[in-house]
Amino acid sequence: MKEEQFIPKPYNNSLENGSFTWSSPSNIALVKYWGKKEHQIPENPSISFTLDNCKTTTILSFSKKEYNDSFSFEVFLDDEQKDDFNPKIETFFKRVEAYLPFLKDYHFKIETSNTFPHSSGIASSASGMSALALCLMSIEKELMNSDVTLIVPDSYRDEGSSDENYFIQKASFLARLGSGSACRSLEGDLVVWGKHDKIEGSSDLFGVKYPYEVHQSFKNYQDTILLVDKGEKQVSSTVGHNLMHGHPFSQERFKQAHKNLSDMISILKGGDLDAFIALVESEALTLHAMMMTSMPYFILMKPSTLEIINKIWSYRKSSGSKVCFTLDAGANVHVLYPENEAASVMKFINTELVAFCQKGEYINDKIGFGAKLL
Ligand code: DP6
Repeated sequence: MKEEQFIPKPYNNSLENGSFTWSSPSNIALVKYWGKKEHQIPENPSISFTLDNCKTTTILSFSKKEYNDSFSFEVFLDDEQKDDFNPKIETFFKRVEAYLPFLKDYHFKIETSNTFPHSSGIASSASGMSALALCLMSIEKELMNSDVTLIVPDSYRDEGSSDENYFIQKASFLARLGSGSACRSLEGDLVVWGKHDKIEGSSDLFGVKYPYEVHQSFKNYQDTILLVDKGEKQVSSTVGHNLMHGHPFSQERFKQAHKNLSDMISILKGGDLDAFIALVESEALTLHAMMMTSMPYFILMKPSTLEIINKIWSYRKSSGSKVCFTLDAGANVHVLYPENEAASVMKFINTELVAFCQKGEYINDKIGFGAKLL
């Protein structure tokens, strides 16, 4: 699969205006993406759980405009116009224009809302970019005369891809050009992004549903997100990714991610939760170790992040629980645990961990199954 295969055939339908609404979840990586090449190509493969409750709903309304010499759009978050999102959308439109040649023909109104508070420190770029990419794909499908069977380019059809597959893959491909991790937010419950030699169909260009057997223990896995620091990130992911260029440990880190993903295949199959814990926690700490050892260096964890990690370790030791943590590029802690421990772990969180959350806030989430057209 090459980029060119996402350039559409000439459209055979014309549309004056319309609107589509998609809701798309966030995701939490188990093996982390940290470091990218040009054109949003990841330096290493990653795998994530798709979430269920943390999601973005986007209504994309479009109307034909007179001149098609520039992009035209406005962005609203919770009914409030947000011009500070414009540069990000402009960059996204520029990156995807070759694959969506209708972009300059319309004025777009992008109305978006998140189920999680904007100031929660939970990044909305994954869910937001994937919802927007799906809305754009819905427009493309209409422009293709709304008959899905016409979408797939002939060259790709020969490789045996179905139209439905193509729709979701192209949406993931577009979402990636908005924000890397967004390409893992379209489907569930486990998604791989980045070429890995043991995962069939894996690609640097888009996320794919994890194709192998997953043990019963991981079904309905729980994720309680402890909101430790709800402020704006001091260092954006984009800056962090860039600091992996010339980083003294980057090459070893990229190799390690490949190995961890290989190991994950047997862990997911066999249900060895101790091995799962070791791998997932090590990935989280490695991600932050990369930040601490880049130049310039930075720390995104807060004292409460470390308090929570230590509490989780001692609770696990004393109770035999299989609870563990992971982190993304911030101070919040994702507490992961099997469904059969939901009651006991919630009790532990409420008695020992809420004290470290800003205003005692957390979000209960679990593995989910991807985006929906509303
Ligand atoms: C730490 O996807 O936010 O969450 O591609 O620059 O938009 P951009 O970065 P982004 O990076 C996410 C990094 C991470 C790990 C992960 O989700 O795999």
